[in-house]
Amino acid sequence: MLKTNISDEVIKKTLLDYFMEIEKYTPNKEELERIKRATLVGRRTSLSYPLLRQSYDLFGFEDEKTSIYLNFVDLIQKHFSIDRDVIEIAGGPIPRLSFHIASRQTKGKVTVYDPLMYPVENKLNNLVIKKEPFTEQTIVPKNSLIIGFMPCEATELLIKYATEHKLDFMVALCGCPPITDYYGFDDDVFNDWEANMKYLAMSGSEDNNLGTIGYESLKELNDPYPILFNKKVKKFTK
Ligand SMILES: C[S@@+](CC[C@H](N)C(=O)[O-])C[C@H]1O[C@@H](n2cnc3c(N)ncnc32)[C@H](O)[C@@H]1O
Repeated sequence: MLKTNISDEVIKKTLLDYFMEIEKYTPNKEELERIKRATLVGRRTSLSYPLLRQSYDLFGFEDEKTSIYLNFVDLIQKHFSIDRDVIEIAGGPIPRLSFHIASRQTKGKVTVYDPLMYPVENKLNNLVIKKEPFTEQTIVPKNSLIIGFMPCEATELLIKYATEHKLDFMVALCGCPPITDYYGFDDDVFNDWEANMKYLAMSGSEDNNLGTIGYESLKELNDPYPILFNKKVKKFTK
């Protein structure tokens, strides 16, 4: 939800001016046109285009209580410490999630990867911005926490990388699974894909001593997709 004390006109003008500024860095001009149209009709949902929701956040238009990014940071902190190295995969065009984590962090660094990132102003010493894809070959510091907010096609890579390297992880799934399922069919792909991601997270966590799979949700913010993380099992001693 956007703040109610900022007028629609201010929001539209600020965003359209900003989109004009970043147009030269945009590989997908058609999508930018769709985003401009969505801005003009005043689309106000955290589930709209990443560029739109990240711009709302960048300009302080989001109400903090209902901000999808701040609520996701709260969930991360409910289960993990962020005072360590944090790696965000697929931060999107404007890395707002990493910005919020870095702003709260007291120790360690946040490194965010996305090849489609725009040039962003960064005054935080503990925020490292990498305009490049995260790959299986990427090296991250020991004991890093790996996170992703709707990383689309990088979801599987995130889960596999984290579990194979025995690293804690939390990932918010999205509604953009691959076009076809593992067998090349395009029917019911999402259910298949979501189930596969859950299985990967569960088996990867259990096989690598990371506990088991845990679930969280931001349903109250109209995000219908599950959030997966490795849930450490508490050990009881006699
Ligand atoms: C839905 S957007 C991410 C949304 C963003 N996390 C947010 O907060 O709204 C998906 C992003 O995944 C990025 N991506 C896909 N594969 C990637 C990879 N291997 N490494 C880093 N980013 C990747 C794309 O460039 C795209 O920006």
